[in-house]
Amino acid sequence: MEPWQIQLMKNILILHGPNLNLLGTRQPEVYGTTTLNDIELMCQKKASQLGVHVECRQSNHEGVLIDWIHDARGNFDGIIINAGAYTHTSIALMDAISSVEIPTLELHLSDIHAREAFRHVSYIGKVAFDAIMGHGADGYPMAIERMIEELG
Ligand code: DQA
Repeated sequence: MEPWQIQLMKNILILHGPNLNLLGTRQPEVYGTTTLNDIELMCQKKASQLGVHVECRQSNHEGVLIDWIHDARGNFDGIIINAGAYTHTSIALMDAISSVEIPTLELHLSDIHAREAFRHVSYIGKVAFDAIMGHGADGYPMAIERMIEELG
């Protein structure tokens, strides 16, 4: 592919928050048996089918996620974020998303509204244009499709 063609491709940042590095073995009855590495492969496959570029990153640290969101400005067209438990606690992540003004899609493997009451609050949901949840690992390629639809 020519450099100018790569430049025209939509660039999507996929962020995974705390404990998602343990996918595959972490509460498989809730999150399934697909590993984070498998999810990245699914995302790369969907991205090449759709002709977009995706970059996947995971951190257990709130500040690292915030820094990545800040650095996304000017480098990425959209952010897909599964913020893990920070979804329910982090006003700082919410503010970071508002600050960079990059279209952001909330993602969860489980349906947070069908679980414990403390998971029903989502700070990410207050600033994301949409949310995909309850589809397990399949939610990731679905989220890439939804993002492309949004970016037009
Ligand atoms: C999660 C749901 C959160 O409530 C939880 O803390 C996670 C994973 C999900 O993908 O279903 O870590 O974001």
